[in-house]
Amino acid sequence: MSLETDFVVIGSGVAGLRAAIEIAGSGAHVSVLTKDKTSESNSEYAQGGVAVVLSDDDKAELHEGDTLVAGAGLCDEMAVEVLVAEGTKYIKQLIDWGTEFDRDGGRLVFTQEAAHSRRRILHAHGDSTGREIVRAMIARARQEKTITLTPFANTESLIIEDNRCVGVRFLDPILRSPRSLFARGVVLCTGGAGQLFQHSTNPAVATGDGMAMAYFAGAEMADMEFVQFHPTALNLENSPRFLLSEAMRGEGGILRNKYGERFMGNYDERLELAPRDIVSRSIVAEMRRTGTRSVYLDMTAMSESFLRGRFPKIYETCRFYNLDIAKDLLPVSPASHYCMGGIRTDLHGRSTIPGLYAAGEVTCTGVHGANRLASNSLLEGLVFGARAGSSILEDAAGIAPVEVGREGEPVFPSSEEHLGVTTAVKKRVKRVMWERVGILRDRNSLKRALSEFDQIESAHLSTASRNFVTLAKLIATAALWREESRGGHFRTDFTSPDEKWRVHSIQKLGAEISAAGEISF
Ligand code: SIN
Repeated sequence: MSLETDFVVIGSGVAGLRAAIEIAGSGAHVSVLTKDKTSESNSEYAQGGVAVVLSDDDKAELHEGDTLVAGAGLCDEMAVEVLVAEGTKYIKQLIDWGTEFDRDGGRLVFTQEAAHSRRRILHAHGDSTGREIVRAMIARARQEKTITLTPFANTESLIIEDNRCVGVRFLDPILRSPRSLFARGVVLCTGGAGQLFQHSTNPAVATGDGMAMAYFAGAEMADMEFVQFHPTALNLENSPRFLLSEAMRGEGGILRNKYGERFMGNYDERLELAPRDIVSRSIVAEMRRTGTRSVYLDMTAMSESFLRGRFPKIYETCRFYNLDIAKDLLPVSPASHYCMGGIRTDLHGRSTIPGLYAAGEVTCTGVHGANRLASNSLLEGLVFGARAGSSILEDAAGIAPVEVGREGEPVFPSSEEHLGVTTAVKKRVKRVMWERVGILRDRNSLKRALSEFDQIESAHLSTASRNFVTLAKLIATAALWREESRGGHFRTDFTSPDEKWRVHSIQKLGAEISAAGEISF
């Protein structure tokens, strides 16, 4: 059985909600499909905040400059200019929609994070910035009569006809059966793929489905080798790697080794506020040197009342694990956190397939280059979500409405039939990604990873498993191709950046990996 709508948005994080609100502003119908609860996304877990030029001592050029430096020579300057220039307007709009950013005596409070030359990070409810933004945006989306929010609707693939995306196939959460949903255009806002790695700060939903769907539909993927590892995830036996926000180091947190020594000075003069990739590699080096599986984040110089007020969620979560952040050293180690690569888009969220748009972490817009500046991702979701929403409307002006009652495609197999395989495959892929395609990589480790992925692929796989392995292969292939170290990609056999590699990797189904000078096309 098939359904029709005007437009489909897949994913309900900041980018998806912003795209849906933009589209609904025209009066068009938009179906937002999410595979979990509407509020469950990577955005929801963003702690540190959102970077924006709003304080008196800040300027757009400074924010742009910091973003370009973090991106290690691979940002598209136009994309960065758009992000910073339009970001301020969308943050003010969020405030109008009721987002409660933290204030002191009525004035917005800005915090510091690594590689920012100014205190420019807004936060909400201390360390629950993403949750507060998503709350306000869902409330705003619910005011739009033409937005339908459908939670627990797992999208399996895109429908492509005559090289144009005309809809999606998803599992209907009520009927528990596969259905086709036809539309004049689809926006993918499914977030990143941190779950490809054994240790990740990302929620379980961050499996990269949107990237895989776009790849199998024939879209170009860019810069997949660039994965950001967050230096400080709580590392306790048998518990998830809960994020301990960079803002903790921004407020004065110190990293110590097992002897209680502050070690970052041995690696970088910016100490704990060096760029994330440097702090992550320094922690790995220090753990190896001292023969341990974690280092420690020390917040004990700050008062309990300050820490409780500034980091309430972290404070409570650590309490749950019997850690008092005002008194105890917190065991931490790096974990996968953010994918800089993704679906190649132009500056208006268009992918290389007509009818298919994308925004947020699922994309590569050129904003982040080889390494994302902390707290730029919620801003990217807002700016490029709105842009994707407006370009889909503009492009669809010449496209006829979807024919009512059109025949759906033949029923595709439900991934639920193969859940057992999915779990086993995921476990194996995650281990290989962590050990061989992780923070430190080299030719041998990457080749071995790729041959393990080939082996896994040779078995009969469910759609979800196939998607997962394919994404792992895309990352490993691009990491093997790039014979240099830059930003989030570190090769122990090519330890420096090399000017001849100042290009983007492009991957497409059925084609060899190639290089492009810019992301936008
Ligand atoms: C953090 O709070 O450390 C994460 C913020 C980000 O990744 O932008």
